[in-house]
Amino acid sequence: MKMRIFVPRDAGAIAVGADDVVAALELAAAKRDLPIQIIRTGSRGLYWLEPMVEVATVKGRVAYGPVSPADVPSLFEAVASDGPHALRLGVADEIPWLKRQTRLTFARCGVIDPRSLDDYRAHGGYRGFERALSLAPDAVLADLTTSGLRGRGGAGFPTGIKWKTVAQTRASRKYIVCNADEGDSGTFADRMIMEGDPFVVIEGMTVAGITVGASKGYIYIRSEYPHAVEAMNAAIAAAKRGGFLGTRIGGSTHSFDLEVRVGAGAYVCGEETSLLESLEGRRGIVRAKPPLPAHKGLFGKPTVINNVLSFAAIPFILDNGAKAYADFGMGRSRGTMPIQLAGNIRFGGLFETAFGVTLGELVDDIGGGTFTGRPVRAVQVGGPLGAYFPRTLFDTPFDYEAFAVRDGLIGHGGVVVFDDTVDMAKQARFAMEFCAIESCGKCTPCRIGSTRGVETIDRIRRGERVAENLAVVEDLCNTMKFGSLCALGGFTPYPVMSALKHFKEDFGAAPTHLQAGIGGSSCP
Ligand SMILES: Cc1cc2nc3c(=O)[nH]c(=O)nc-3n(C[C@H](O)[C@H](O)[C@H](O)COP(=O)(O)O)c2cc1C
Ligand code: SF4
Repeated sequence: MKMRIFVPRDAGAIAVGADDVVAALELAAAKRDLPIQIIRTGSRGLYWLEPMVEVATVKGRVAYGPVSPADVPSLFEAVASDGPHALRLGVADEIPWLKRQTRLTFARCGVIDPRSLDDYRAHGGYRGFERALSLAPDAVLADLTTSGLRGRGGAGFPTGIKWKTVAQTRASRKYIVCNADEGDSGTFADRMIMEGDPFVVIEGMTVAGITVGASKGYIYIRSEYPHAVEAMNAAIAAAKRGGFLGTRIGGSTHSFDLEVRVGAGAYVCGEETSLLESLEGRRGIVRAKPPLPAHKGLFGKPTVINNVLSFAAIPFILDNGAKAYADFGMGRSRGTMPIQLAGNIRFGGLFETAFGVTLGELVDDIGGGTFTGRPVRAVQVGGPLGAYFPRTLFDTPFDYEAFAVRDGLIGHGGVVVFDDTVDMAKQARFAMEFCAIESCGKCTPCRIGSTRGVETIDRIRRGERVAENLAVVEDLCNTMKFGSLCALGGFTPYPVMSALKHFKEDFGAAPTHLQAGIGGSSCP
């Protein structure tokens, strides 16, 4: 019998040598005349252990990592003798970092072959779709509302309400659009699921189509994600061959088709109306709302636009019931959140868990503190528009409302850690500079305010009339917050003001906490 070996084809694993490990495995097996079957999976999300290789045994899939091509001969010997190996991690499902997660959305990621529709179906795929087919659209909408699912793209808008609005709007055509622009710093969950379990995104979008009465969908993927584009295209082709896309899908009377579109490379193209402009072939500029995309979206037609993770949560909800999802979480944040731990962190990766885990647990316990071993000083949650949290706020639970109360946001679930060498005035300047570079230019507070913000923070950093310039920054932030058309200009004040509020000592000619001679970068 062939030895079954699983190696991720995830871009993160490939970046650290997964393809070279596959080549070494093939070569070593050929030399030994050992029949093997290599199955390329997604990543389990334990990135410090990539490339992680799993070997099927009677005990389950035994994992080894991080594996380099040089480790392959000794790895074969260890597998043959069921003996110890320095890189042996035990049965993959039992690895504590994985075991303590609640994987509802990412249950199959790293487990199945993302190119195989049969593997997807063998692991519960398309059961949610089949249930949706058996229900009236109103019942699907009721389930979605009961589940409490809120959009995972950042704004946290209730998905059930959005779908209901589109379902109730009369039109000759409607569209489903998946927002896979994933521009937030420190985020990679959309990419991971598209590469590791693309059918779950397709299934979620298909359910949206049959529920609101749309027969066409688009997946807008950022151009920096070529592996995700390839994975989604391969899965769409397989779903078409299997009768799950096209006409009379799943033997029903419904038609639904999907197409991948590659983004042009602008952060603002992740903003939903700007994304629709880009999809229509124009420059990505934000549209004024109303009308909402749910009423007048793509090509002026009612459109459901959701984040990748929002669509990917749908199959579980329909398959297992709304209550099974809503049972997890806290307050109005129901279900689980695929949290992405990044930056200067020891155990970086994807950690899916119920809402309610505290920031301190995430950073110190699950993340293991900083990669450099220095003390954690600041954590930015929610991408480039998210606030910086100091240690004193580490008791904040991961929950939309709890973060908002503390002038922060959870956004798309990105957590970026900085050690005590970080210069927070520099980070505040970066926030303004990012906004200036990425601004679509439609409104003045964002277009002009961000550039004035950079100049003013530069003056503060040079020690010029610090108190007066700090007042100018605050004034600029208020103008941007209340006067901008979209959240790019409107939320840039969050990182700036939080840096000012919690790390005021850094704003002046020389940050006082760096005067003791701590130097270097805050990231590994
Ligand atoms: C500047 C800016 C960038 C955004 N980038 C993304 C993105 O990359 N991905 C995403 O899903 N949502 C992004 N959003 C949020 C979208 O506008 C929108 O809220 C989301 O696609 C709705 O889907 P959801 O309800 O499933 O979250 C961005 C918003 C702004 C203002
Ligand atoms: S806030 Fe910035 S990105 Fe948003 S519409 Fe105004 S100029 Fe464009």
